[in-house]
Amino acid sequence: MGVGFFASGVVAGPAMAASPADWTQIPARTVTLFYPGQSSYQWLRSRAHPGARMVWNGAACLNCHSGTERGRGRHMDGGMRRGMRQGMRWRPPTAAKMGRDIVDGGPLEPTPIPGKNGVLNLSVQAAYDAENLYLRFQWRTNLDRPGRMHNYMRFDGEKWAFYGGPRSSESVASGEEPPLYEDRLAIMIDDGSVPGFRTQGCWLTCHRGMRDMPGEATKAEVKAHPLIGETGLGRSDVRKYLPDSRTDAAASWDKTKSAQAIADIKGAGGFVDLMQWRAHRSNPIEMADDGYVLEYRLSDEGKGPYGWNVDRETMTPKYMFDPDKVGMKVLTVDDIGDPAKPYALIREENAVPYDADADWEEGDVLPGRLLSRVDATGSASDNSRVHGEWDDGVWTVEWTRKLDTGHSGDDKILREGRTYTFGFAVHDDNVTTRFHFVSFPIQFGIGSPGQIQATRLR
Ligand code: HEC
Repeated sequence: MGVGFFASGVVAGPAMAASPADWTQIPARTVTLFYPGQSSYQWLRSRAHPGARMVWNGAACLNCHSGTERGRGRHMDGGMRRGMRQGMRWRPPTAAKMGRDIVDGGPLEPTPIPGKNGVLNLSVQAAYDAENLYLRFQWRTNLDRPGRMHNYMRFDGEKWAFYGGPRSSESVASGEEPPLYEDRLAIMIDDGSVPGFRTQGCWLTCHRGMRDMPGEATKAEVKAHPLIGETGLGRSDVRKYLPDSRTDAAASWDKTKSAQAIADIKGAGGFVDLMQWRAHRSNPIEMADDGYVLEYRLSDEGKGPYGWNVDRETMTPKYMFDPDKVGMKVLTVDDIGDPAKPYALIREENAVPYDADADWEEGDVLPGRLLSRVDATGSASDNSRVHGEWDDGVWTVEWTRKLDTGHSGDDKILREGRTYTFGFAVHDDNVTTRFHFVSFPIQFGIGSPGQIQATRLR
């Protein structure tokens, strides 16, 4: 099973023939992803973190947090010895140990999720040819089902309302609503243009003031902000950004540089590429989204794989399932999670406009998102050869990405003979925002040295 019957045979675009037919010939490397809690850019530079001074000075996280569980600190290097001299009395923990400690709750996790694991082992295989980078990922999910539902709406007899959500939300934690949230795999890429990304990776993007972080900015505060709020990006919450887009040393969310200064940084390539494979919002149409991080987490130019299926004026769905194609116009609450039932609305494939006069019944459920491969355009639609399947507790995602997407304005162009910094993250077990697993930055070589080296295909 996996993406179900929608995807088979109907997906436009080039065949996957060029990707390695036999992945068993490509070495697999296991990357330890761990649960970071609220370890923000600012926390890492605060007194609470023993490595703060070194982090301020640009040291790599792995200077200290390296080693395996058994042979901890075996390769203690200069950076760590300096740290020890600066008064550290105990050994810095490994990624796996940190994940396990943080996930259970404490100063870095005020709202632990019961039963959540602290570590996720991500298997990564990589290959390339003259045109493409080919990636294959595998990981085990905590649940015995894939997280493939997202933003569902339920009819209560009179009106439609959003139903279910991430496990971090109050209504789900209290048992009032079911956990319904998509699994995700995210990749960040930099080519050396972003100061500090090579050594500190994803932690450059995570800040105080963001959603579910300490000092979370209020909606009113964000809306009133000239660059992020109503007169600028039109947002009402704070998401990932790079310190380089801010004016103060603490990289505060509201101390943004001018729009012109930010445009100049972007023009010079000083952004991080961020692409996300989404089990609900992109996988059913064999895509991943394509975005970048600079002053905010933004989509690339053009239109990505998904939009809303909700008319915000009337709070009714825009599309329903096409009974001629899938044998039903709507799901019921009991159908959720049934692998035999459709779970995503695809405009060109299984959807027809919503019929307000059909006899809707209490407990009817429709996806609040509408997917379309056909409507996706521009740089936002670059990741159009991505395929994920969940089988027996394991996701396998195969991802083809052009080395040169042709969109250097918001993508990192990859070249043979160069090493890049990658960061990986997985959202598992119906969670969102920071409740994910993340990797330390990884040196990724394309015909060049790296912790992961892509295999050249002949
Ligand atoms: C100079 C060495 C050093 C550097 C560099 C360093 N750390 Fe640390 N870090 C430590 C030590 C020591 C601890 C304390 C662990 C403890 O309390 O037992 C720690 C704790 C942490 C914790 C909390 C773990 C827990 O269980 O609560 C996190 C998260 C963390 N570091 C992340 C990072 C990240 C991310 C980076 C890179 C941006 C980094 N560290 C760089 C030494 C360092």
